[in-house]
Amino acid sequence: MDEEKFMLDTVTRITPAQQEQLVNIFHEFIELEHLYTSAAELVKTQLNIYDSEFSVKFQRNPIHSIESRIKSPQSIVGKLQKKGLELSAKSAQKNLMDIAGIRVVCYYIDDIYAISELLTMQREYKIVKVKDYIKKPKPSGYRSLHVILMVPVYLATQKKEVPVEIQIRTIAMDFWASLEHQLHYKTKSIVSEALKKELQDCAEIIAETDLRMQDIYDQINDLD
Ligand code: GTP
Ligand code: MG
Repeated sequence: MDEEKFMLDTVTRITPAQQEQLVNIFHEFIELEHLYTSAAELVKTQLNIYDSEFSVKFQRNPIHSIESRIKSPQSIVGKLQKKGLELSAKSAQKNLMDIAGIRVVCYYIDDIYAISELLTMQREYKIVKVKDYIKKPKPSGYRSLHVILMVPVYLATQKKEVPVEIQIRTIAMDFWASLEHQLHYKTKSIVSEALKKELQDCAEIIAETDLRMQDIYDQINDLD
């Protein structure tokens, strides 16, 4: 049976009530995506304002790059299932704090804390959680500052508070995390203890280099 025929058969076999339920689920997910995309766009705009303000005032940009992503419906359902939670858009909104994710890559360690302070000082944003994996790296060696904020999104007739996860890291931390992610994180491949140790060592060396670069930056700026 070809795919189109199969879909038609499936559709004609469901009751009108089931069909309505299905349509509602689609609608809810589309609305969810719009809401989280809007929240991420607002935070990105705010970050770009901070970056350009730095540039105007201090002739330097603290932010190297900003990326954002919205969790796919597949990952949303997967995570809800893993946590044993109800599978619905409502449940996703209530329980998942990382549907909207932003990654901010900074030049220096001090820039990370400067950006995070600006974000958390914004009265509009409520802080849900701050996880400092720089001061306390993950066992893997992973380093980043994670900030989860509730961001107000003004829709035509209502205001919604939307959680956004912001990962702030240096270029060096991002380099390590990207390669390690490819090699290891969330994949099914088994990494030996020896290789895990090797990856941790690399993370240490990179962290040490970040500190030295910050020190060089500070010394040059003290001369000014
Ligand atoms: P998740 O279910 O993965 O979202 O975990 P969580 O809710 O406990 O959040 P956590 O603070 O562990 O951070 C989640 C995110 O940080 C991940 O989705 C990754 O982007 C990143 N991350 C956390 N640990 C690692 C790691 O060991 N390696 C890499 N490359 N990224 C990591
Ligand atoms: Mg996550």
